Amino acid sequence: MNLPHSVAERAQDHVNNDRLQAAIAALARFGGRDDGGVARETLTEIDLASRRHLIDLARALGCEVSIDDCANLFFRRRGSTDLPPVLTGSHGDTQPVGGKLDGAYGVLAGLEVIAALNDAGITTLRPIDVVAWTNEEGSRFGPGAMGSSAYVEPARLAQYRESLDRNQISFGSALDAALAAVADVPRRPMQQPMAACVELHIEQGPVLERASVPLGVVTGIQAVRWFEVTCTGMAAHAGTTPMDERADAMAAAVGIAQRLYSLAAREATSQLRLTLGRWQVGPNSINTIPGKVTFSVDVRCVDDAVLARFEHTLRTMTQAADWRGSMTVACIFQRAPTLFPDGMLRLIEQACTRASQSPPLRLTSGAFHDAMYLAEHCPTAMIFVPSKGGISHNAAEETAPHELLLGVQALAYTVAALANQ
Ligand code: GLV
Ligand code: MN
Ligand code: MN
Ligand code: MN
Repeated sequence: MNLPHSVAERAQDHVNNDRLQAAIAALARFGGRDDGGVARETLTEIDLASRRHLIDLARALGCEVSIDDCANLFFRRRGSTDLPPVLTGSHGDTQPVGGKLDGAYGVLAGLEVIAALNDAGITTLRPIDVVAWTNEEGSRFGPGAMGSSAYVEPARLAQYRESLDRNQISFGSALDAALAAVADVPRRPMQQPMAACVELHIEQGPVLERASVPLGVVTGIQAVRWFEVTCTGMAAHAGTTPMDERADAMAAAVGIAQRLYSLAAREATSQLRLTLGRWQVGPNSINTIPGKVTFSVDVRCVDDAVLARFEHTLRTMTQAADWRGSMTVACIFQRAPTLFPDGMLRLIEQACTRASQSPPLRLTSGAFHDAMYLAEHCPTAMIFVPSKGGISHNAAEETAPHELLLGVQALAYTVAALANQ
């Protein structure tokens, strides 16, 4: 019988670079743009066509294809037993304009691992499932990571079905159409037991590139809190209302925003990240004093205590704001940090070291990933490869081909080792 690690090494050595790069280029044609970007938002016509392409690819590799109630697509390579499978993969959808790697790389890497195992003639003990999760991006339907979060907690799906896109199409109706389009694919239950989950992804930040290290072992995902701050004053004439008699909701909101940025600057050592990304102004007219302003606050940090302190200050600041209007703060999303288990990190470290002939870097993920929810379900971890210039969610998103190859080699080793335990 093969020892698990010699099988892992053989799997790693059979990863085929030409096949990998060709698969990335072929999937990028679904929604491909002239500037090199990809526009493939979840459950659009183009996303459905790309799913059909993935199904054909997986079937050609001998995989059994199945789909669940959230249209998460699974490609299974059988093992010698029916023990719970090892899961790998990522998401197939993109931002309105994204790159060819965010999500797609992890899915295609999983299929390349299966091709490598086929070429090496290896039968693993456990089955291996490659997944393409539905709607990780959250740009068409909010929130993000719908597929993976509903998978681990199916009760979430009922609420997700109500989510509307810009054209008032519900996630529920888009989902039903997506399922009908692959009526030939057998349905599988959500929340199936898994032995472990590994997600390979581009870093989407500058850490690996700056360190000149090609592989990263992701130790966890930082904590996050999302708020909506609403300032309600009084709309009035821009030309006639004296400055000291206004209840200007924008002046109040900008005052708070300025103080939040100062607070974030003081938290530089804890690496707090603050984004005030979405603003709604009423009535949004050039010559009317804003009567109502709502803005979003996305704040992240590896240390949840820093976010708790931030929230306390934000609430105190808004309560104490001295103006003629009122201010409310609502927390709309919150997640504690995700910490991946040490056993998984050590295995990935070993896999990365053998692939790149040098030790990988341990780092925390700044972005959310489907792995954040899978970590609630089974031992989970992630592998990162560098992003050129740290750029992602942009057509210019790029990773050097040899780094993409190293990532898949590390994944092949990890998955093969886990599937033999
Ligand atoms: C999504 O990737 C996020 O981190 O917001
Ligand atoms: Mn992603
Ligand atoms: Mn993304
Ligand atoms: Mn993401």
